[in-house]
Amino acid sequence: MPSTALPSVQADNEWSQLRAVIVGRAANSCFPSEPPHMIKATMPEQYHEKFQPKSRFPQDVLHKADAELDQLVNVLAQEGIKVYRPNNVDWYEVGGYTGSMPRDGLVAVGNTIIEAPFSWRSRRCEVDLAYGNILAELAKEGPLTIVRAPKILDADTIYNGIENHEKEKEPVWAINNSRPAFDAADFMRFGKVLIGQYSNVTNHKGVEYLRACVPDGYTVEMLEVDDPHAMHIDATILPLKRGLLVYNPLRTSETALRRHSVLQDWDLRAYPFVPKMRDDPPLFMTSEWLCMNVLSISESKVIVEEKDVEFAEWVKQFGIQPIPLPLQHVNSIGGSFHCATVDLVRHDVSV
Ligand code: NVA
Repeated sequence: MPSTALPSVQADNEWSQLRAVIVGRAANSCFPSEPPHMIKATMPEQYHEKFQPKSRFPQDVLHKADAELDQLVNVLAQEGIKVYRPNNVDWYEVGGYTGSMPRDGLVAVGNTIIEAPFSWRSRRCEVDLAYGNILAELAKEGPLTIVRAPKILDADTIYNGIENHEKEKEPVWAINNSRPAFDAADFMRFGKVLIGQYSNVTNHKGVEYLRACVPDGYTVEMLEVDDPHAMHIDATILPLKRGLLVYNPLRTSETALRRHSVLQDWDLRAYPFVPKMRDDPPLFMTSEWLCMNVLSISESKVIVEEKDVEFAEWVKQFGIQPIPLPLQHVNSIGGSFHCATVDLVRHDVSV
């Protein structure tokens, strides 16, 4: 008999009314340990030496980050949004990074949820350990397709020949193309079209693999981005609502965006201010462009970091109500509201 249960996963854009979401957890997060050339390619220079094996983030940052995430959960629940939380994991013990950045590891495309085949060794077990229970719960709640990533059990090849590569020929990334690799946060959903970027964690085979994983009728297009440090597209472009996108003019352009027919009629806005770098708490892993990394919970409400007043004021002219919340300690360990969440159900899905 056909199932009449509602889907537990149904989302293919970044702006429709949010109904269900994963919100991360910060406890026990550690600086991810990856080869020096990867850290050099992706992380802020002043903090490179912290990215060692078994290197914890400051405890007070993690405590405050979890308090911020709990507050976010309460606000989302008050908005009538169902919230799922990851397991508590001892990332120190397992040599991993965090459960606070679920956007990197999972993406919902229609009624399918896809696990990223991470390039980073430190993230290999992240989805299993932190989100495995959520995936099992979602499968019980309604019909959906879960696409788990192929696992690298032994030696990886992704860095072979790269560490000492002379950076003078091609756009040279910190990974090779010997196996599919992508982080889900290198892609944005615009209905039937996903727009992504190649980066230091997303390679050509990874994009081909994602194309094979998305449901029928969905396509994946790649944006021209000028950013040798590229890792995650959500401080480069961010759709705020249907027809309105903010972009980082230092990394991409209106010309590049207009090449994507889905954006042909959109209002494409270069963010007009230069965001300020913060060092208390430090942005250990990201640039100051994190101010763009907001979460739309509907076409008229966007959650922004409370210190990013300039951004909050700027969105008002588009009829968007900013909801300012604290997230600076989560920012410190790698991302803001977009990174720290995975939307599972949004109201409208393109048909
Ligand atoms: N790595 C990018 C994106 C972070 C969400 C940055 O630091 O701007």
